[in-house]
Amino acid sequence: MTPKLLLKIVCLYFVLSCTSSSIVQGIPVNASSRSPRDQQPRRLRKSNPDLNRVFTHPTITIDGQLLSRTGYFLEILQNGTIQATLNNSSIYTKLEMQSYNRTLKRFKGIHSEYFLACEIRNRRRGIFIGVRSLSTNSLFIEHMEENGYTTYRPLDFPTNNNNTGHLAIKVNGKFRRIERSTPGMHASQFTFLNH
Ligand SMILES: *[C@@H]1O[C@H](CO)[C@@H](O)[C@H](O)[C@H]1NC(C)=O
Ligand SMILES: *[C@@H]1O[C@H](CO)[C@@H](O)[C@H](O)[C@H]1NC(C)=O
Ligand SMILES: *[C@@H]1O[C@H](CO)[C@@H](O)[C@H](O)[C@H]1NC(C)=O
Ligand SMILES: *[C@@H]1O[C@H](CO)[C@@H](O)[C@H](O)[C@H]1NC(C)=O
Ligand SMILES: *[C@@H]1O[C@H](CO)[C@@H](O)[C@H](O)[C@H]1NC(C)=O
Ligand SMILES: *[C@@H]1O[C@H](CO)[C@@H](O)[C@H](O)[C@H]1NC(C)=O
Repeated sequence: MTPKLLLKIVCLYFVLSCTSSSIVQGIPVNASSRSPRDQQPRRLRKSNPDLNRVFTHPTITIDGQLLSRTGYFLEILQNGTIQATLNNSSIYTKLEMQSYNRTLKRFKGIHSEYFLACEIRNRRRGIFIGVRSLSTNSLFIEHMEENGYTTYRPLDFPTNNNNTGHLAIKVNGKFRRIERSTPGMHASQFTFLNH
């Protein structure tokens, strides 16, 4: 065997061992029980596979403004900043509400072209940001309360016994922390005014 050939074999071995270990991703796998299903990251396997769908084609879109029961309009500024305003004529309050099924929604700023999204931190905290690329973080579950107002829960926010995790605007115009907002609060209740 020439040294050159030996070097090739060593290189090939090195490449193979690296790629095979990256497929396993540190999860001990019993070769006899391995199947394509098992190669998905663990946490995704037990959950509803639908939760990982990004949903890119709305079935219905409606233009309007999202008005909170506390009197504020949600607006998405040109630079993607999400805030609340009392100015009903602000062009940044004009949103396109996209429906993916009866309850699954996205809000797109018509002038900024940013989507309202919720970035979850440490599985509990969440902040509202504007995003341009579609991901599950811009999906919200809409629910109509008995009083006719609607609530919006970020799809990515973990469900919990307290039923917290809602878009909410307080009477001072600041967002209520989502891990503290429940559907019964005025801050969490909205009306979508379509034009
Ligand atoms: C691997 O699977 C076999 C057959 O299902 C089982 O007998 C064995 O205990 C398993 N080994 C480990 C390390 O899980
Ligand atoms: C976004 O624009 C608003 C209004 O022009 C400004 O107040 C804010 O500082 C900007 N934010 C960033 C992150 O640039
Ligand atoms: C917008 O707000 C102003 C001031 O609060 C109010 O006078 C006006 O009626 C509102 N316009 C609409 C269309 O709601
Ligand atoms: C309300 O928004 C309009 C349109 O963006 C703007 O021209 C106006 O100055 C704003 N009014 C106030 C009080 O901020
Ligand atoms: C809409 O899709 C979401 C995400 O898959 C799901 O959680 C929700 O139950 C669906 N709603 C309806 C009415 O089908
Ligand atoms: C539920 O609420 C209690 C009291 O406010 C709080 O201590 C607890 O962390 C909350 N649990 C969740 C899962 O948010």
